[in-house]
Amino acid sequence: MKYLNEIQKRRTFAIISHPDAGKTTLTEKFLLFGGAIQTAGAVKSNKIKKHATSDFMEIERQRGISVATSVMSFEYKNTLVNLLDTPGHKDFAEDTYRTLTAVDSVVLVIDCVKGVEEQTKRLVEVCRMRDTPVIVFVNKLDRDGKNPFDLLDEIESELKIRLHPLSWPINMGRDFKGVYNLYDKSLLLFKPNQKATEEDYLPLENLNDDILPVRIGEKDAAQLREDVELLEGVYGDFDRESYLQGKVAPVFFGSAINNFGVKELLETFIQIAPLPQHRAVTTRVVEPSEDKFSGFIFKIHANLDPRHRDRIAFLRVCAGKFERNKYFHHVRLHKDVRFSNPYSFLARDKDVIESAFPGDVVGLFDTGNFKIGDTLTEGEDFYFTGIPSFSPEIFKEVVNKDPMKTKQLEKGLLQLTDEGVAQLFTQFGGNKKIIGCVGELQFEVIQYRLLNEYSASVQLNSLPFYKACWLTSKDPKKLAEFIKFKSSNIAEDKDGHIVYLAQSEWFLNTERTNNPDIEFHFTSEIH
Ligand code: G4P
Repeated sequence: MKYLNEIQKRRTFAIISHPDAGKTTLTEKFLLFGGAIQTAGAVKSNKIKKHATSDFMEIERQRGISVATSVMSFEYKNTLVNLLDTPGHKDFAEDTYRTLTAVDSVVLVIDCVKGVEEQTKRLVEVCRMRDTPVIVFVNKLDRDGKNPFDLLDEIESELKIRLHPLSWPINMGRDFKGVYNLYDKSLLLFKPNQKATEEDYLPLENLNDDILPVRIGEKDAAQLREDVELLEGVYGDFDRESYLQGKVAPVFFGSAINNFGVKELLETFIQIAPLPQHRAVTTRVVEPSEDKFSGFIFKIHANLDPRHRDRIAFLRVCAGKFERNKYFHHVRLHKDVRFSNPYSFLARDKDVIESAFPGDVVGLFDTGNFKIGDTLTEGEDFYFTGIPSFSPEIFKEVVNKDPMKTKQLEKGLLQLTDEGVAQLFTQFGGNKKIIGCVGELQFEVIQYRLLNEYSASVQLNSLPFYKACWLTSKDPKKLAEFIKFKSSNIAEDKDGHIVYLAQSEWFLNTERTNNPDIEFHFTSEIH
């Protein structure tokens, strides 16, 4: 295998969490360990905390930041770690889901006070769909959180995943003393607001070691012995294979802000996390070790500078070697393209790169040739599968306020929807343009960007739909009849697929019951 060394060096993952659980803080600590940044506070959070119109400007400003922090690569102990950022705000959840198609594993952060939150569930669902291996980091142990056994129960039942704790806390909040590492049987003692030092790390022969009560007190030592006995009885030995198959999620406890438990998490991550994985394409399975290059676009980012319409397309390399200035095959456009300035996200030199390997993410300058899900190869025709388009939940009709700018508006709508900001539908048989989004904030972004980048002024009128379902049927006659009957609820998506826009759950259920020969799909795969 030609590039085996390169493949074995790489780990590509994302940190996911409900907003405020500590994703940004943990990311920053990882980067500090990786030497990618020198000081705390260097990673700017790109989350949008409130939901307000004034957020536009904030979004604009932060788009610059989020390009920079979209992918963060660093080396740690001879491993090249590619950390893909995911937006925290729920209105941008689709962006997160797509980013998850480009990683090989995730670290899930849970706040020990709040436990499992709404977005945690949705994110883990997406991981489960793809059997993505998950490591759980229970954060904020310096606060009085839920009992750790209760937390494990809650996570297992709410997220429907099996857990395997690899570390265990000694108290929480004000009494928090540290964590016991069940994996390498050592004790890490906590000192608030201090970085962990070598002396705080205590390897133990076993938990009957005399040093234990000396360091944490008789009572806590006894409790720890009892907890560990129970845990070992229940969970047994850790099975890496089950983790790699996405069946068991190892759990770590710590406090990101205090840089506590983070190094242990990172070191275990490097040891157990999957290498760049194979991926399904429309015709077969692509192995990372293949000689020939292939990869796909999972994210497109508009340029901050409105005078330059070019965008940055994020390419995940899946197989072979990506090379600068080499011609690759753009499958959808049936043409060969090459890139003179592909750039890497290695924090030390955010610069033009000569080559990239499976697991890497490359930034490509794009003048409108790419849309999400596009595949590049060395000639073979296929698409990577499993890149989802979710059913939008809010729909608005686009009304052009300036007929002189019709062309610009159409171009803008196409480009913004290529970026995956929203989905565009055209009413069947007419030309009413409808955009569908997951959250209100995206409409504000669209309106703002259409005006600023394309000089197109639009009004967005709410439509009384609550879901878009993609329709298929083995019986074309039945489908044609349904379309004819329900024409005011039918639209086409950008690729010409038929979509049913349901006014309410009741209507949707009724139509599904009345039309058993038609399948209603809530996600469409881009390919
Ligand atoms: P997010 O990206 O998941 O949204 O979370 P982020 O890291 O921004 O953390 C959310 C808040 O939680 C921040 O406080 C952060 O300082 C705090 N935090 C992170 N880790 C810990 C921890 O281990 N213990 C405690 N007690 N707090 C933690 P904030 O007040 O919202 O923001 P900031 O003003 O500190 O930036």
